[in-house]
Amino acid sequence: MKGYQYLDENGTFCLENPELTGYLYFPIANEKGVMASVTPSLGGDNKMGQNTFLLAPVSSEDLHDKKGTRNFWVKIEDKGLWSATGASAWQEAGLFTKEKDKSLLKAGMMWHSVKRTSEEFGIEAEITSFVPLDNTVEIMTVTLRALSDDLTITPTAAIPLYGRSADNIRDHRHVTSLLHRMETVKEGILLNPTLTFDERGHRKNEVVYGVAGAAVGEGAEYRLPAGFYPVIEDFIGEGGSLINPRALLEGAEPVKAGFHKDGYETLGGIAYETCTLKKGEEKTYIIVLGYGKNKEDFLAQTRPYLSKTYCDTALEEVKKSWLEKLNIKYHTSSADFDAWMQWVDFQPILRRIYGCSFLPHHDYGKGGRGWRDLWQDCLALLIMNPDGVRDMLWSNYAGVRADGSNATIIGTKQGEFIADRNNITRVWMDHGVWPFLTTRLYIMQTGDTGLLFQENTYFKDPQAVRGEEKDLLWKAEDGNILRTKDNEEYRGTVLEHVLIELLTAFYDVGEHNHMRLRGADWNDALDMAKERGESVAFSALFGQNLVQLGEMLLHLKEEGMDKVSLLEELFLLLKDNDKLYEDVKSKTELLHDYCDKVRHTVSGEKKEISLTELSDNLIKKGNWIKEHIRKTEWISDRAGYSWYNSYYDNNGRRVEGDNKEGVRMMLTGQVFTIMSGIALEEQVKKITAAADNYLYAKELGGYRLNTDFHELKTDLGRMFGFAYGSKENGAVFAHMAVMYANALYQRNFIKEGYEVINSLYSHLSDFEKSRIYPGIPEYIGDNGRGLYHYLTGSASWLLLTVLTEMFGVKGEYGSLLLEPKLLKEQFDGEGKTRVSFVFGGKNFELTYVNREGKEVTGYRIGNTLLNDEPVITDSGKFVISKEIIDKLDDNLVHKISVELV
Ligand code: G1P
Repeated sequence: MKGYQYLDENGTFCLENPELTGYLYFPIANEKGVMASVTPSLGGDNKMGQNTFLLAPVSSEDLHDKKGTRNFWVKIEDKGLWSATGASAWQEAGLFTKEKDKSLLKAGMMWHSVKRTSEEFGIEAEITSFVPLDNTVEIMTVTLRALSDDLTITPTAAIPLYGRSADNIRDHRHVTSLLHRMETVKEGILLNPTLTFDERGHRKNEVVYGVAGAAVGEGAEYRLPAGFYPVIEDFIGEGGSLINPRALLEGAEPVKAGFHKDGYETLGGIAYETCTLKKGEEKTYIIVLGYGKNKEDFLAQTRPYLSKTYCDTALEEVKKSWLEKLNIKYHTSSADFDAWMQWVDFQPILRRIYGCSFLPHHDYGKGGRGWRDLWQDCLALLIMNPDGVRDMLWSNYAGVRADGSNATIIGTKQGEFIADRNNITRVWMDHGVWPFLTTRLYIMQTGDTGLLFQENTYFKDPQAVRGEEKDLLWKAEDGNILRTKDNEEYRGTVLEHVLIELLTAFYDVGEHNHMRLRGADWNDALDMAKERGESVAFSALFGQNLVQLGEMLLHLKEEGMDKVSLLEELFLLLKDNDKLYEDVKSKTELLHDYCDKVRHTVSGEKKEISLTELSDNLIKKGNWIKEHIRKTEWISDRAGYSWYNSYYDNNGRRVEGDNKEGVRMMLTGQVFTIMSGIALEEQVKKITAAADNYLYAKELGGYRLNTDFHELKTDLGRMFGFAYGSKENGAVFAHMAVMYANALYQRNFIKEGYEVINSLYSHLSDFEKSRIYPGIPEYIGDNGRGLYHYLTGSASWLLLTVLTEMFGVKGEYGSLLLEPKLLKEQFDGEGKTRVSFVFGGKNFELTYVNREGKEVTGYRIGNTLLNDEPVITDSGKFVISKEIIDKLDDNLVHKISVELV
């Protein structure tokens, strides 16, 4: 077996010798706050937040560098000491075993199992790890089997408990161990630090960490541990280590329950009774590690899991429950692609749990997600689990400031936004585009235009004028909600929030009359052009937003609405005058005027405007942006390639095109000029030719984010400090590559769009090259390895692109529109493809039948059946109206069958 193989259509897979590949990790977590990572040798970590790490935090380099893992030792009489996780100095070095242990990984959503077999010792261990749904614990079950002889064994679990904040991994690592109070009870070991030392200061500790164990007996019976090794120093012995523990090698006696020790590093060292396994016999050991509010709470949560039957049920629940959340199933010509997509679909769920921190590559941030991630993750939720998304969208709008910028520190509760304690003012210019993009998808899927008229508050802190000035009148006691001059909390509709975001951006331009880059845009690493930088790329997307919002207002008019009320000050931003649009100085003055008016409070007065007038105004502004980009940013190089310039640097210079260091091209500007329709059809062709020439790297799975600038471009961003080919500097960055595919599909460049996705998929699913488990990582490094696996916004976009573009399952104000863009090669042997999904709260299974094996350019929608009844369709367009969908039974799966002719 070269790479992994799928065992079922849910994406369950197996992989031989996983530990022979570096940097692998796998997520196991729950919605109660437990977030763990586990490696093939049971390394990784487990935490509930930045300040609450049960197992010491690991970064990617620690995955091979760290000796403290979830180790499980087996002393085998007359044979020696064997690590069931492979983590012993001698097994790692390949010493004293004639042959390497054989190992086999099996994993599915949120569970991980490794079987390790040693011919020499005649033993096999199967270790399954998972985090149960309802408790703050992780479970490890270890089944040992005697293969060739009777074996007398003494097992010992040895898992170092870190029990403190990630900050202390270097900052006061030793001093914080002095806070530790450990205690053994009959089930296991408890670690109760007296205080916590972290960025919050010195506080009384409120979390008890612990590990408990049992040996499984008959039925539900179990036997408690024989003793414990709770002190790391004693366990490793002088000169020993966690992969060479002298206590076990020299037969040191474990301590009993009732042992106390203060001020030492703690080991979850559980000694089990010695027993004899007859040849062919097996025995299971359980380890429960986790968190409690206090000792009793930890033990109460832990005790039930000491029984194997309880653990087995909990594992089955885990397997079932996570799979149930994945309600999209694909069937194409490639069963492997379909299974791989299950992992992609699972990733947005992982990002909701882990945020953008807390897996080994994601060793930054302190949990939580950023503003743009918040909105983009909703894209996937909207498709997979739409319940609750309306509320989520609505409450996220409370983060918008009256100047169109937004809070950047997002609280743990939905809709909670926090003022930056350090008063760091950073404004990302792209932030304003994501809310409408997501809200529009929601409205298209559901037809719920009412969301636009639900009111919410605005965020308030001392930042004013889009991060450039302060509100000196604001005091922390005033709270974080915008008030009127009469000191009332001010509320405006969601529509008003969107308008403020888009219109302020319209005026926030630099010297080339494109929107200022400010602290950065989507590319976080374009962070050194605050004064004069401009982002043409995201100006394009704002232009698109303005036009689409205008169009939505026209739809509201068709629904019978006439007028809307908006905050009086906002009317300043609705000035409509071509001369103004062209004049950077007047635009920025107008913006300043507006921002000044809403600096401390707002009037609270509302004024009406007709939908027609508002819509015209927005469409005109949006089209002005589009035309301006078309007129000024289409560039060509000496070799005759043409594309759109994406940025201006802090010296006001155009970034792309010919340069003495080589041609400079960036993907971002292409994606959004294509997506927004700025790039005319002929231009899209030219862009794809340029991208194929300058950015495509077949050996790396597709399109790079940029060419090599060969310059540490400190007038644009830190990205140029990254090695070329890594992260935001020219890697194949999955998120932008997938958005490129999405844009191409939207513009009916179907083969080109498919090629982007297929080259990514082909590379990533080739384990020998990508060296990651199934799924999509943030980027592919210059050696082909997938990095920053699991927690990436690209998963949401890929899910969206495959469903709404490839399969063409789209919402149109709550009606279901089908627009398949599947290539001939994507149909199975019978000429069929299938997708199951939820739409309008109903379950559908859609089958496309392409009997004649036509290519995508050659087919159109023919006979269509909904639950075996014919549906009348326009040629090329197939819509099931919202009225029909609303009447369908909630509990049935409704079959749609579409003949492609
Ligand atoms: C990450 C961030 C995302 C940012 C991107 C580019 O991408 O999460 O907000 O826009 O880097 O700097 P991701 O890991 O989501 O693919």
